[in-house]
Amino acid sequence: KNLPDYVTEPLTDFSKEENVTAYKAALEKVKATLGTDYPLIIGGERVTTDGKITSYNPANKTQVVGTVSKSTKELAERAMQVADAKFDEWSKTPAEERAAILLRAAEITKERRHEMSAMMTLEAGKPWIEADADTAEAIDFMEYYARQMLELKDGKPVNSRDGEKNTFEYRSLGVGVIISPWNFPFAIMAGTTVAAAVAGNTVLLKPASTTPVIAYKFMEILEEAGLPAGVVNYIPGPGGEVGDYLVDHPRTRFVSFTGSRDVGLRINERASKVNEGQIWIKRVIAEMGGKDTIVVDKEADLDLAAESIVKSAFGFSGQKCSACSRAVIVEDVYDEVLEKVVKLTNDLTIGDPQDFSNFMATVIDEAAFKKITSYFDVAKEEGRIVAGGTADDSTGYFVNPTVVADVAPNARLMQEEIFGPIVAFSKAKDFNEALDIANNTEYGLTGAVISDNEDHIAQAKQDFFVGNLYINRGCTGAIVGYQPFGGYNMSGTCSKAGGPDFIGLHLQSKSISTAL
Ligand code: SER
Repeated sequence: KNLPDYVTEPLTDFSKEENVTAYKAALEKVKATLGTDYPLIIGGERVTTDGKITSYNPANKTQVVGTVSKSTKELAERAMQVADAKFDEWSKTPAEERAAILLRAAEITKERRHEMSAMMTLEAGKPWIEADADTAEAIDFMEYYARQMLELKDGKPVNSRDGEKNTFEYRSLGVGVIISPWNFPFAIMAGTTVAAAVAGNTVLLKPASTTPVIAYKFMEILEEAGLPAGVVNYIPGPGGEVGDYLVDHPRTRFVSFTGSRDVGLRINERASKVNEGQIWIKRVIAEMGGKDTIVVDKEADLDLAAESIVKSAFGFSGQKCSACSRAVIVEDVYDEVLEKVVKLTNDLTIGDPQDFSNFMATVIDEAAFKKITSYFDVAKEEGRIVAGGTADDSTGYFVNPTVVADVAPNARLMQEEIFGPIVAFSKAKDFNEALDIANNTEYGLTGAVISDNEDHIAQAKQDFFVGNLYINRGCTGAIVGYQPFGGYNMSGTCSKAGGPDFIGLHLQSKSISTAL
């Protein structure tokens, strides 16, 4: 009823003093909650365990953001029973009611916008602009998926012949296990959860162990929006124990995972096994890694190229599956683009994300810091470090933006997902070779082409093998409902989050033919 058309939520304009003041106030508000202990939520009930997950501030590594009860197999089983029991009623709740809850949750999120973002600044090390975009994307997912469910609620048209009436309708699947990542700890966590729930499924939400508090804050929003107890259950816990248990569970109907290639493949393999008591083939939605390339043609705006590379490579310290980790430059302009990129990189500000003036902050934790910095040696062997190559973990996990020149197309730096602020440069003799290099990974998530040559742009549209291709812009920052997101090959099942097909992945269709 009178639901306005979907439009993406605008980002906050931090050139306005009032917004700066509001964000700072939100940071203070969140800081006053540091160290809080959060329970699990199973069927609406708060369950506190002795085992805890401790969430630290990556920019101040001994500061505890919160402790969160840690689920065990037994509690995961209890949550499964609750979700399974709730499914029948929830799946029969009218789609309008389910969608209305998402829209209310979106409204509440808008009211708490800076508080949610500030929590990510502290829990995930997200600079203001990145955190603000994350919250805006969470709002977008709620607004968009609510509308997408309304589009599907009466099914789709099919033909009928004389003497029969046919319909094609949708039904919910069952209990879904949502395993969400820390890099978009609000947007992707919330998006994957509400997509499953608005489609009438019940959910077991296992958020990333590094960012469980923002997920708890979202649970509070869902409850306030009127989501019935037991529809979404909050059970953070170790992947090897709780994750595996639920992926293997015979009552799990589908798994929606976002994270690394290796974990995604493990889930896919485990989910394919039919366990005792299981009567269906589990569905797996997997959004995995990327090794994303920006290609720069010789006829191109080279300033735009350099800006696009730097922003896509180093935004949120390169911790996006969409991040540019490879720049493939046609040889005529290679030196010039490299020089511009080095200059822009050296101008980047890095430091505590609570300070708005810092473009970049930390990486997520010690394991990430070790893994990313281990590539500095690889970089020295495989190319030339021309910017960065340094890091400092004395107070937080700071890795400086790093540019590595003259890397061979098949080198490790050009093939392995590092998930940090390192971009490798490769030289191509012409545009054809540049596209070949761009396509030479096992991933296929995002890619960008910076070119003024219409034929080359047309060629890239056809042959650049990625799920999200960008022309004359950077390769991150897909917008819900505008650039549905997801990739090919080892980047996952190309499920296209924020796209018109996503809700359908959480439904099964039913053909009904009535003889007249
Ligand atoms: N959707 C994000 C982007 O496009 C990545 O997950 O950058």
